[in-house]
Amino acid sequence: MAKFREYNPKELELKEKHHLLLSSVAPRPIGFTASKSKDGHVNLAPFSFHNAFSSNPPMVGISPAFSGRTGEAKNTLTNILDTKEFTLSVVSFNMVEQMNICAAEYPSDVDEFEKSGLTHHPSKVISVPGVAESPLIMECQFTEHIQFSDQPAGGNLLLGEIVYFHAKEDVFDESGKIDPHKVDQVARMGYDWYSRAKEGLFELSAPRFIPIGVDNLPQLVRDHPSFTGKLLARLASVEKIPEQDVIEDLNETYSRLSAEDMLKICAVLVEEGKVLEAWQVLYLAEII
Ligand SMILES: Cc1cc2nc3c(=O)[nH]c(=O)nc-3n(C[C@H](O)[C@H](O)[C@H](O)COP(=O)(O)O)c2cc1C
Repeated sequence: MAKFREYNPKELELKEKHHLLLSSVAPRPIGFTASKSKDGHVNLAPFSFHNAFSSNPPMVGISPAFSGRTGEAKNTLTNILDTKEFTLSVVSFNMVEQMNICAAEYPSDVDEFEKSGLTHHPSKVISVPGVAESPLIMECQFTEHIQFSDQPAGGNLLLGEIVYFHAKEDVFDESGKIDPHKVDQVARMGYDWYSRAKEGLFELSAPRFIPIGVDNLPQLVRDHPSFTGKLLARLASVEKIPEQDVIEDLNETYSRLSAEDMLKICAVLVEEGKVLEAWQVLYLAEII
């Protein structure tokens, strides 16, 4: 007989239950949710406790939990209960690092569109925008709330009816079907694992602090064509702008280059995951 490790959830710590659940129910689609507070602040956050539940009418749900740390309601929950509207934008691989920034616990008046560098796609029926970089967007009207507990990490299933779909022209194949290769969806697994549907597993850690965000990057960097949304998000995923550090090797290699070439090199370093080095090149280029 095959050997199993056995667990009674009633006897487990919260963290153990959480990891068992997230590794078991996977891969999960990501409902990248935009909502609006009653005083008009737009919010954007990912939720992988998310699925579709009916085609007629088209119904979807997400489940924002009370914070496991503070027990407080997440902004998305408060907003949707207050203003009854939200959009869900499908997360494709090229947006995943920008999505990740939106998982940081920013205060309710911070707009995660600005933090991530993602942009608005106007909705037709509701007042909340979708994410323009996403291939598929759903406008939703809130219908029901099921609260599972009032404890930290207790879930709140929010159901909504899709009142409008937006599908980007370039995700269709020649026969008019949506091509999953073009959508290039990512899904959430346990721990730091994700799955790129057309390729397989990769890892990305959720933010462990509040990142500075794309809105705090130097304008020259934000406007430079070498910096895609992904690279901007990666450079902006630091807790604060790193101090200047005189690195002899870096000085010798790059200091004779023009600021323009240094910007290009900075982008290559970010692509290679050398974010701290990339910030030092911005000092060398006198951009910061
Ligand atoms: C891929 C991904 C999926 C997530 N799924 C959930 C989820 O299903 N439920 C939840 O409560 N938090 C989830 N989180 C964490 C929230 O995104 C995070 O708490 C965020 O700060 C909530 O933002 P808000 O307060 O603006 O609503 C997820 C994070 C990531 C990166």
